[in-house]
Amino acid sequence: MSLWVYGFSECMKRARGFSTRSVDAGELKGIKGSVNTPIFQTSTFFYPTEDESTWNGAVPKGTYLYSRQGNPTIEAAENKIAALEGAERALVFSSGMAATSTLALSLLNSGDKMVSMEDIYGGSYNLFKNDLSRLGISTKFVSSVHTDDIVAALSPDVKLLWLESPTNPLLKIVDIPEICKAAKEMGVLVAVDSTFASPINQNPIELGADLVMHSCTKYLNGHSDLLAGTVAGSNELMAEISKRRTTMGGVIDPFGAFLLLRGMKTLAVRMRQHNANAMMIATYLQGHEKVQKVNYPGLPSHPQHELARKIMRGFGGMVSFDVKGGVQGAERFMRSLELINRASSLGGVESLASMPLNTSHTAFTPEDRLKLGITDSMIRLSVGIEDAEDLIDDLERSLGQI
Ligand SMILES: Cc1ncc(COP(=O)(O)O)c(C=O)c1O
Repeated sequence: MSLWVYGFSECMKRARGFSTRSVDAGELKGIKGSVNTPIFQTSTFFYPTEDESTWNGAVPKGTYLYSRQGNPTIEAAENKIAALEGAERALVFSSGMAATSTLALSLLNSGDKMVSMEDIYGGSYNLFKNDLSRLGISTKFVSSVHTDDIVAALSPDVKLLWLESPTNPLLKIVDIPEICKAAKEMGVLVAVDSTFASPINQNPIELGADLVMHSCTKYLNGHSDLLAGTVAGSNELMAEISKRRTTMGGVIDPFGAFLLLRGMKTLAVRMRQHNANAMMIATYLQGHEKVQKVNYPGLPSHPQHELARKIMRGFGGMVSFDVKGGVQGAERFMRSLELINRASSLGGVESLASMPLNTSHTAFTPEDRLKLGITDSMIRLSVGIEDAEDLIDDLERSLGQI
C-alpha cells in the first residue's frame, strides 16, 4: 500500500496521522468515478480465467471467487484496520467472538496450552474455559493483571497468551511491552483484546504483541448498529487465520463491511471526543459526595495512571464508579437517567450506562465479583460524544435521586 507516505521529498517520509488513516486508508476509490468504496454485494464472482480447462482454481491477488474467501468491500475495511493498527494484515469477522474463536482455533491444537488473564470479556472467558477445553486445549487463568504474576504463568510449552487492556469494567491496565518481552523470550505468542482502547489510543503490535483483536461492534464502527470483529497481525499468522475463517465461515457480509468502513472514517475524531468527555466526567464523579470510587486510567489517582500514560495515547471513553447506598442506590440512579441510555455494550456515539452485576458479570458469583473488585453498586458508563455538560447534568440529577 502506498497509503503510508506523503509525496514530499524522501527525507520527509512519515506515517500518515490517525485522522488521515481513518478517512483515507484502504478505500477503493475511483471505481466508476466513485469517491466512496462501492458495496460489492455479491456472494460470487466470475472465474478469474478465460480458459477453464487449464485453470487450477488459484485466485490471484486482486481477483475474487466467493465472498467467504474474499470480497473487495471487506478487504477495504481490513486494509483500513491494518493501517490503523500498524499491522501487515487484518481480517474482519461477523462479530468479535467470531474473531476470537477463529484466532484460537487457527493457532491451537488438541493438547496445546494457553494462558489468559481471568479479568477478560465474559464471552472470551467462556470460550477458553468451556469450549476450548472440550477440544483438549487447556487454559491457565491468571487472576491478576500484574506483570510478574502473568509472566510467572508462562513457560516455553505455552502456545498463546491472551491479554485484554484496559479491562472491563475496572479499567485496569496491563503492561503490554514488558509482558511481550518475556513472552517472546519463551516463544509464546501474545494476542491482545484492545477493544476498550481502539487503535487511536493504543497499538498492541507496536508494543510487542503478535496479534491484536477488537470487537468492531464497539469503537471501530461506533454507531451501535453493527456486529463485527477483527484480528490483525503478521502476514504469516494471518494466513493461518484466513484459512480457518474460510473453513469456519465467520466472515462479515459486504454491507456490514461497508457500515464498518463508513463508521471508521470518523474513528479518530470520535475518539478525541470520547477521551475528552470521559476525562471530564471522571473528574466530576471523583468529587461527588454520592460516589464512593471512580475507575478511569486518565485520573492521576488511578493506580496505573503512569503505565497508561506510557502505553496509551488517550485514556478512552469507559468510566466505572461505585455509588453510595448499595445496590438500591445504584438502581435508583439507573432509573433516573434521562439522556444516558440504560443498555449494555459500549463504544457508540451515544452514552450508555449498565451495571456489571446484571450485564457483563452475571456468570460470576457475588464472592467472585467482589474478589475482582466489582461491587453490586458499580455503574459502568460508556461515555458518548454528546456535550459533556449535558451528560454531567443527567448524572447530577440522577445521583441526586440516590
Ligand atoms: C472487550 C470485548 N471483547 C470482545 C467482545 C465480543 O465482541 P462481540 O460482541 O462483537 O462478539 C466484547 C463484547 O462486548 C468486548 O466487550
